Amino acid sequence: MANYDVIVIGSGPGGYVCAIRCAQLGLKTACVEGRETLGGTCLNVGCIPSKALLHASHQLHEAEHNFAKMGLKGKSPSVDWKQMQGYKQETIDGNTKGIEFLFKKNKIDWLKGWGSIPAAGQVKVGDEVHTAKNIIIASGSEPSSLPGVDVDEKVVVTSTGALSLNKVPKKLVVIGAGVIGLELGSVYQRLGAEVTVVEFLDAITPGMDPEVQKTFQRILKKQGLKFVMGAAVQKTEATKTKAKVTYKLRKDDSEHVIEADTVLVATGRKPYSDGFGLEALGVEMTPRGQIKVGVDWQTNVPGIYAIGDVTEGPMLAHKAEDEGMAAAEQVAGKHGHVNYGVIPGVIYTWPEVANVGETEETLKEQGRAYKVGKFMFMGNGRAKANLMTDGFVKILADKETDRILGCHIIGPGAGDLIHEVCVAMEFGASAEDLALTCHAHPTYSEAVREAALACGDGPIHS
Ligand code: FAD
Ligand code: NAI
Repeated sequence: MANYDVIVIGSGPGGYVCAIRCAQLGLKTACVEGRETLGGTCLNVGCIPSKALLHASHQLHEAEHNFAKMGLKGKSPSVDWKQMQGYKQETIDGNTKGIEFLFKKNKIDWLKGWGSIPAAGQVKVGDEVHTAKNIIIASGSEPSSLPGVDVDEKVVVTSTGALSLNKVPKKLVVIGAGVIGLELGSVYQRLGAEVTVVEFLDAITPGMDPEVQKTFQRILKKQGLKFVMGAAVQKTEATKTKAKVTYKLRKDDSEHVIEADTVLVATGRKPYSDGFGLEALGVEMTPRGQIKVGVDWQTNVPGIYAIGDVTEGPMLAHKAEDEGMAAAEQVAGKHGHVNYGVIPGVIYTWPEVANVGETEETLKEQGRAYKVGKFMFMGNGRAKANLMTDGFVKILADKETDRILGCHIIGPGAGDLIHEVCVAMEFGASAEDLALTCHAHPTYSEAVREAALACGDGPIHS
């Protein structure tokens, strides 16, 4: 048994960042993690392994589709799946060991095992009960399932199983055209699988700018992904090697069956808050099973905080990290803050898709007058040189004040380009501020500037 200022439960991007910041602020800190390795969903079975596979499969796509156009002739590489899995695992190991190193460096105790909270101020791990002035729950989320769909993580898989399949399937059916479905669907399509995405709604990536949705779907179709839209999945039936997916089309209620070697269920994730004893402690929850917190990330029980996927808001690693830092600062008596209006979202397909702030739809709902500045990558010299002209940058600015309210990008490097706009929004910048900023030529960033120019007197290159 030991006494701590802070015990963080969970070592995902929310928990480990929080623990490090607590330690940096001079608090005696421990972090409880039940997995074999630190880093949570993100480092072990989420962001990092999926990006490794996206990167590797994108290289193959480039070799197959663009090399010859650039005068690079020769045999395309073939897929050594075992080696690719090894590369993925090395990437995971490098990252998770990195967190272990940071814990040691910052003198954070890793309490190995699953933690529960028998009473405020106490955390039980195994048979040991430790005390802490503050407990921060960062237990993350888990895949949610559908009625009639039994996940076995072999034939019918969640993202976790999909990242470690024994082989590249010939036919993959993805249920859900959200972020996971499209990222992992892209990976397997590029590696040679026939991929069909079955989506309940009529548009992919719900909540995103509709112009981006349409362009994105068109590009993915061109790459070979098939879509069945407006389809409610009824059930899956699996043998040891194959599965059938039954869905009903919402427009006419007709029933259809599609066969696959692998089915990826990607219909969202749910907060993970079981086993802590939160009910007995009287911790308030939202109707969606998230832990309810106040502006300082404290629950209704003094001294118990919660951050990341287990709380409300977007289920994103960087949102969890920001909350981790801010909650640590609150616990240390400082003024931690997160600006929820400026949290970017990125989909790491090719091209990438990125957004921040308001959409035209949310602005219309608010009755706020806005203007749109749009610029196509077709007019960007660097994109032309690199054969990456699909997509556009769209900036939304207040009609009167010109203040930037949102940005939506589909195109090369979108996930990096968006941050220029995030910084501008944090500083309350106008579109003109961006437009007046000199941008190096030739860069993709010039497309952002041109979109900002399009909010005013107009872009130069369109
Ligand atoms: P988690 O990362 O889920 O970590 C929680 C940890 O707590 C886990 O390790 C768990 O074992 C541990 N834990 C839970 N309960 C206990 C307990 N009682 N005792 C001890 N330990 C416990 N987000 C992005 O921003 N970018 C991406 O590119 C991205 N890609 C993703 C790809 C996939 C396939 C998936 C599934 C998710 C992806 N996400 C991505 C989402 C991202 O992984 C999550 O938003 C993020 O991990 C949430 O962080 P967290 O710290 O709240 O929780
Ligand atoms: P999601 O919420 O992004 O998408 C789920 C999709 O499934 C939606 O389009 C929904 O309409 C559809 N759907 C729901 N029920 C259905 C049904 N019965 N039949 C057919 N379609 C159905 O969820 P996803 O992709 O599982 O991702 C979970 C979380 O992980 C997301 O919140 C995301 O933030 C996070 N994540 C983030 C990544 C990133 O930032 N690049 C990458 C991967 C995951």
